[in-house]
Amino acid sequence: MEYTEFFADRVRSMQGSAIREMFKRMADPEIISLAGGNPASELFPGDELSKIAGKILMTSPTLALQYGTTDGYPKMKECAIARANKVNAYNAERDAVIIMTGANQGIDLTAKALLNKGDKVVVESPSFIGSLNAFRTYECGLVGVTVEDDGMSMEGLEDALKNNDGVKFIYTIPTFQNPTGVTMSLEKRKRMLELASKYNVMILEDNPYGDLRFAGEDVPTIKSLDTEGRVIYAGSFSKILSPGMRLGYIIADAKILEKVEILKQVNDVHTPMLTQLMCVEFMKKYNIDDYIAKNRELYGKKCACMIENMEKYFPKGKVRWVTPEGGIFLWCECPTITDINPVVDKCLEKKVAIVPGSNFAVDMSAPSNMFRLNYSSATLENIAEAIRRLGGVLTELL
Ligand SMILES: Cc1ncc(COP(=O)(O)O)c(C=O)c1O
Repeated sequence: MEYTEFFADRVRSMQGSAIREMFKRMADPEIISLAGGNPASELFPGDELSKIAGKILMTSPTLALQYGTTDGYPKMKECAIARANKVNAYNAERDAVIIMTGANQGIDLTAKALLNKGDKVVVESPSFIGSLNAFRTYECGLVGVTVEDDGMSMEGLEDALKNNDGVKFIYTIPTFQNPTGVTMSLEKRKRMLELASKYNVMILEDNPYGDLRFAGEDVPTIKSLDTEGRVIYAGSFSKILSPGMRLGYIIADAKILEKVEILKQVNDVHTPMLTQLMCVEFMKKYNIDDYIAKNRELYGKKCACMIENMEKYFPKGKVRWVTPEGGIFLWCECPTITDINPVVDKCLEKKVAIVPGSNFAVDMSAPSNMFRLNYSSATLENIAEAIRRLGGVLTELL
């Protein structure tokens, strides 16, 4: 049977993430993946969490196994607020918080609450494909703005806001952006708020990597600089505890979250109680900042190892990158070519997976001469080996 005629217009032309598609081809255990966005699993606190889960199921089975409240288990909300308070992203006087099944769900439901068909969202281009695809399902237009070494171009942003009707919000990942790894300067964050106010649009600030700084100085969140209640903040426990536990949160003015909460009720009723309880207990028993510090140190080492090998094996002067100060991604541009796909394909033959830049673009059909590397999930040895092989391919094809 042919099903295309049954699909809704909004999903018919959608493409899944090529990264997820690549995962399917990566059943081969010999492939070294620099393609995903997985945190380092060698540091997962598996023993601690298994004891905690066992204890919860023994002592509070009803709480863990029964339906919970849509906005989240109250103590889990406190944990999310505690994380947000570290970056002044929670305004106790007007904000509310909802625990989400990953930040992904928070971003999706925020978009669902704000977007009508035909509205527009201004995004960094390139940006996180999960969010871009979420916005696409609401049949809105995406207006891409280039990303510079210090974050989204503010001239580009003003042009986008001036020349497009129906912009509802700006979506930004200002710190250790996915996929570029760059961090927006303080001046640009202030300017973004000025422009959002001037053109009366909201800002959705997505900050899953903010805790993972291993060099340089912290920059205040946009939410912390917001005096008007214009910023909706998405946080996540995926990169600081475990992505499989699916714990994220949205913080915004309570009037906005009232609507988002109804959408979550429709969507999945609530985030699983067991993982919420596990996170609460973990944060009570252990110092999560110590655990994050270990991750940061490891990512600093892995990033340095990747760059050291890039300098050694990449053809000189043919690949440009910005050294990240945190997060998990490194973004490379090859100015002497127009399409990186032959490099990506040849790398897969050599059993190394990388992601072509077109995946993260607003216009995914346009060729890209860029690619994204992830340094958090492979071991140091595998990073060195993968970059040696990638360097060989780049030397041959550039
Ligand atoms: C920029 C960005 N936002 C959100 C997410 C999703 O996070 P979560 O696992 O909390 O859904 C990711 C995951 O890779 C991401 O890179």
